[in-house]
Amino acid sequence: MSKRGHQEFETTLPKRVIFGRMLALARPYAWYIGGGIAMGLLLMLPAVIQPWIEGVGINQLLDLLFGTGFEWSAFLPLVRIAGIIAAFAAFGMVLRYANTVLMTHLRMKVLTDLQRRVYRKLMHQSFSYFDKQDSGQLINRTIGDVNMLHVFYTMVLVDGPRILFSLLGYMSVLVFFDRWVALVALPFVPVYVFAVVTISRKIHPMFHEMRDQLDEAAIVLSENVQGVQVVRAFAREDVERGRYEKINRSIYERWVRLARTFSAYFPSVFFLGSANLLAMLAMTSYRALEGVLAAGLIWSVFRWSQVLTNNGRMIARMMPAIEHGFVSAERVFEILDAPASIRTPGSPKPMPKGRGRVVFENVTFGYDEHPVLEDIALDIPPGTNVALVGATGSGKSSLIKLLPRFYDPVRGRIRMDGADIRDLDLEELRNEIGFVFQDTFLFSTSLAGNIAFGVPEAERRAIEDAARRAGVDEFVSAFEQGYDTMVGERGVTLSGGQRQRVAIARALLMNPRILILDDATASVDSTTERAIQDAMAEVVKDRTTFIIAHRASTVKRADLIVVLDKGRVVQKGRHGDLIAVPGPYREFCEMQWKLGLDDVEAPQ
Ligand SMILES: Nc1ncnc2c1ncn2[C@@H]1O[C@H](COP(=O)(O)OP(=O)(O)OP(=O)(O)O)[C@@H](O)[C@H]1O
Ligand SMILES: [Mg+2]
Repeated sequence: MSKRGHQEFETTLPKRVIFGRMLALARPYAWYIGGGIAMGLLLMLPAVIQPWIEGVGINQLLDLLFGTGFEWSAFLPLVRIAGIIAAFAAFGMVLRYANTVLMTHLRMKVLTDLQRRVYRKLMHQSFSYFDKQDSGQLINRTIGDVNMLHVFYTMVLVDGPRILFSLLGYMSVLVFFDRWVALVALPFVPVYVFAVVTISRKIHPMFHEMRDQLDEAAIVLSENVQGVQVVRAFAREDVERGRYEKINRSIYERWVRLARTFSAYFPSVFFLGSANLLAMLAMTSYRALEGVLAAGLIWSVFRWSQVLTNNGRMIARMMPAIEHGFVSAERVFEILDAPASIRTPGSPKPMPKGRGRVVFENVTFGYDEHPVLEDIALDIPPGTNVALVGATGSGKSSLIKLLPRFYDPVRGRIRMDGADIRDLDLEELRNEIGFVFQDTFLFSTSLAGNIAFGVPEAERRAIEDAARRAGVDEFVSAFEQGYDTMVGERGVTLSGGQRQRVAIARALLMNPRILILDDATASVDSTTERAIQDAMAEVVKDRTTFIIAHRASTVKRADLIVVLDKGRVVQKGRHGDLIAVPGPYREFCEMQWKLGLDDVEAPQ
């Protein structure tokens, strides 16, 4: 690849490193690769020897037709030659079959390993990573780019050596056949290979650009699918379609450019092939006239020239795929290499016993340089029912996301039952925390499966019990298949409130030490909210609960109300105490009364 292209496109890793890492991925399957190479070696033999035998056979035939006159015994060597060729064919067939099976295994094993690694990496990646990455692009890389690598594992590791052997075998058999023919034929080999490799390298940066454009197309597509309601509601179809079409057109243009480059260069390669054949034929004819070579061997020369062209063609087909593979590998490694900032420490402390005492020690946090939470100090006794109140953007969601370590504070620390949460095993910590998010995600599985998401081994009774406590049973009776009803993308669509209840049931089933409800009751009507709360009173009483709610009626019942404003705690206490003094909490309640939001259902 050209120097400029190098600087422009390979920003992360040198090719040598990528190559090494790709090899390392295949190390567990070294036997497969060894087997493939051995078979390639065995396949090479008939490919380079057979033309010679054919030539000898044809020469015999010529002798028979034009020479010595007809005699039955002269047929015998011909039959022998036909037998050898048939045996070669059978041998080649069996070997090729075995080779294909072996290569498919190799490819699939390495690629599924890699896909699993990428998946695991993403599963453990911190939230701040996903804040910056687009899901369409990640999917494109995990599926599209990983699949591009199959070429590397079969072509480079197995076909590559085979081509090399083939070329070596071709060169030696020629020297053995006739030195003069070899002399005109051999210089073509490096020239041929050089030409093919040069062309392919030229194409490399184009592939890089193309993969990036495909990313972009995936981003627009996934945004438009996910945000279809917004797109339609704001009648933005035309603009969005224009965006998509622009990228598509640019991909199209790049393909055309690639094809043009290809077609501009490849005729020169074919020309080289023809020149080679011509040179070899001329020399063979000359040697035949000299009486050194038999005329029938001209056929062998034809076939050898084919060996060269075929191998060249294979290199030509491989090179872009290899270059493409390098680009794809680089993009996959980028995902694998992104540091996961939030991890279980090397030697985690055991989970402390306790009922959920949570202490924020002067916690400061921000998603980027500007702080979202400043100097938060809270000491929450076990079993407390905490309500977080504050204007939109005041940092309520951010505060509770620190507890399961979705993000880590910039300064200060958080303790749970005495232990710094950063010293604990991440999975154990998260198992102690039930989380109901502001917007609920349901998976494409049954209702029961969704509720049991955190506890897959849960018994049916426990699932239904959690569902009853969250009020899921009220609407589930309307479904014919009850808890086995499919939801999510391939099943029934639930309303916002119904989804919330499923999410609450999901959190309850985990029986967590700490329960977090981020606006969990926002999309249920106030009657349901009351019902959920009454039902939850028993669950809530022996665990620490954080509730973010906008209704004073919900907030009022809390043991501790924490009022946030611009990332700071401005008030904390019980309803009775806070309402007695002028301040943001009183304003919050007064606003609700004025609007009639409290205890009265707001018109939807
Ligand atoms: N993933 C993120 N990346 C960068 N900034 C963020 C992110 N999430 C939230 N913020 C910013 O952090 C601030 C606090 O947001 P947060 O979601 O905690 O507010 P909130 O109090 O929960 O608001 P609401 O009541 O609307 O849910 C906001 O200024 C917001 O823009
Ligand atoms: Mg929020």
